Order: sequence, then C-alpha cells, then structure tokens
Amino acid sequence: MIDLPSDVEAARLLERLGVSSRDRDETLAARPDPQEHPELWRSLERCYRDLTSHLGAALPADGYRALPAFPAEAGPVALHLYVWLYLAVLPRTLRYHAERGIDPRTSWETLSTLGPVMAEHRSVHGLGGVGGFDQWCPPLKFRGTEYKLGRLEYDRGHGERPDGMTGYVLHLHIPSGTPLSPDSCDESFDLARTFFERHFPEEPVSHFACHSWLLDPQLAEYLSERSNIVRFLRRFTLKPRTSGDADRADGDLLEYLFSKPSRQEPVTESRLAVLPQETSLQRAYVAHLRSGRNWRARTGWMPYRTAR
Ligand SMILES: CC(C)(COP(=O)(O)OP(=O)(O)OC[C@H]1O[C@@H](n2cnc3c(N)ncnc32)[C@H](O)[C@@H]1OP(=O)(O)O)[C@@H](O)C(=O)NCCC(=O)NCCS
Repeated sequence: MIDLPSDVEAARLLERLGVSSRDRDETLAARPDPQEHPELWRSLERCYRDLTSHLGAALPADGYRALPAFPAEAGPVALHLYVWLYLAVLPRTLRYHAERGIDPRTSWETLSTLGPVMAEHRSVHGLGGVGGFDQWCPPLKFRGTEYKLGRLEYDRGHGERPDGMTGYVLHLHIPSGTPLSPDSCDESFDLARTFFERHFPEEPVSHFACHSWLLDPQLAEYLSERSNIVRFLRRFTLKPRTSGDADRADGDLLEYLFSKPSRQEPVTESRLAVLPQETSLQRAYVAHLRSGRNWRARTGWMPYRTAR
C-alpha cells in the first residue's frame, strides 16, 4: 500500500525539500526494500498508516508522541527510513494543502525544512539521515498540522490555556537559523494570524503557546535584557512549575548550544570541561550547571490577538 517514488522522482523532490546533494545521494542509496529489510518496511508501513490517518488533524489536548529515534548503529537504511516516509506521504500533503487553499510557496517553505534537519543530524551525529532524532516536527509538517510562517513555525492544536481550560492554541516552534530579532517575531505573528484565519477559520485560536528552553527565566540572569532570547521570553506568561524534574533541559541544550547528541544526562564535569566557551550563552550554560542548578524547558502563553 505504500508507494515510494522512483529514484529520479525522489531526487527531484529531495532537492525541493532543501536537501543537500550529499544527503540526497545517501538517501537514494538507503532506499528501504520490503524483501531486504522486512522489519524496517513494516515499521515504514505502520508510520505511513499513522501519518496519513491523521492528515489535517490538529494536535489533541492530551499531547502527541514523536516517532522514536533509532540508535546510530542501526545503519543507513534505518537512519533514512523517515526520509522515505516523508517522500511517500508528500503527494498527499500537497493535495491537502491545495484543498485548504494554501499557496505552494508556503507549502514548500514549510516542507523544505527537511534539508536543515538532515544537515543538523549530520552535524550532531556525524551521520546522514534524520533517524538519530526523535521525530517531533517533521511528521507534523507532513500531516498538515505545522506551518512555517516567516521566522517561526506553528502547530494547530487543542491545548491548555492560562485559565486552565482547553481550546485552540497555536504551538510555536523556533527553528535554528537567523537571529530571533523582535521584528522577525512580530512579522511572523502577523503572518500566522492572517494565515490561520484564512485557511482554518473553524479553529478559533485564543493563544500562542510555547514550550522551550528559550522560556527559562534563569537565562535572564546571564544574558542582557537586550538579547533576543530575553526579549523573546519576556513576551510570555509562564505556567508555574510543578514539583519534580520533568522539565529538566540540561541534555537538550547540549544539542541546541553545542551540536552534541542530547540524550545523555547527567551532564558531568568531565563533559562540561571540554565544551566550547565562545558565546555568553555557552559560558552561561557551563557556569549554571557548575553552580549546581539545572536548565528548564518552560511553557508560556501569549494572547493571540494582541501578541506583538
Ligand atoms: C533561538 C536562536 C536563534 C537565538 O539566537 P540569537 O537571536 O542570536 O539570541 P541572542 O541575541 O539572545 O543571543 C545572546 C547570546 O547567546 C548566544 N547564542 C544564542 N543562541 C545560541 C546558540 N544556539 N548556541 C550558542 N550561542 C548562542 C549569542 O551568540 C549571543 O552571544 P554573545 O552575547 O556572546 O554575542 C538560537 O539560540 C538558535 O538558533 N537556537 C536553536 C533553535 C532552538 O533552540 N529552538 C528552540 C527549540 S525548543
């Protein structure tokens, strides 16, 4: 039931998805085959069924589970399996976008974030593919839930609001890239309001929501009030922390600040000692952990209408 594109078609699509020629060639060389890789093929079919059965669905209030990462030693076919999944789903994604009246430029801008994800995978894991990462955002893009609008990305979803009720919120993501200037954020919020009101008018949004290390107010102890990160976090009303350590982000930050694999906690002194200390944030990361504290991923909201 799953129909993979030919090598010629896959190469053309990968280029449109922003994938480098090296990543394109390694993807083609890692094509999964039902006879040669029966287990991976079954997994591919399962993911395809799951993704296509949720095509167009907003995120449910009780959350969403990423497609799980493979261990680095699983080999190239496993590490490229999700790339082939996205290629297989792509025609349906484009059809869905067209039915919603979404212009092709926004479609491709959203989907062509696959190239940077593959580049990041190579930089963090030293290997081609995407499978070393849990797959959070890419499946949401290919099922029509997430859109890139200017500097920021947004998931349509039901979610908790600051009053404790649930309703439509736009979950905001910050892809790596250009600086997070206040102007680029304002411009993106304006684009988001126009886009979602036009294409999803039946989902009345009340808030932008964000869950990120970028909202950890401890950052303001180290970075200037003029820094983009502090100006970004000041926009949000934070959800109070509950007890426990579930929001600990020390490991995640290794990936975001140092391009190191992130699932290795605790971050010990021997690992801190070899981290580069080139930026104020990299220095803050190390000083904070050495003082015996931890970094946190926090949740915050901004009202949808007045957010600037
Ligand atoms: C979000 C992001 C674009 C902010 O960068 P920015 O606009 O330069 O941020 P600021 O202006 O606040 O930077 C303040 C300082 O921190 C440094 N800094 C910011 N992000 C950094 C990063 N990812 N790695 C290392 N240093 C970083 C800046 O270079 C600057 O250092 P300086 O004072 O020595 O000049 C950047 O952190 C990034 O690309 N992050 C990866 C994506 C991410 O983490 N998304 C959230 C996922 S939950």
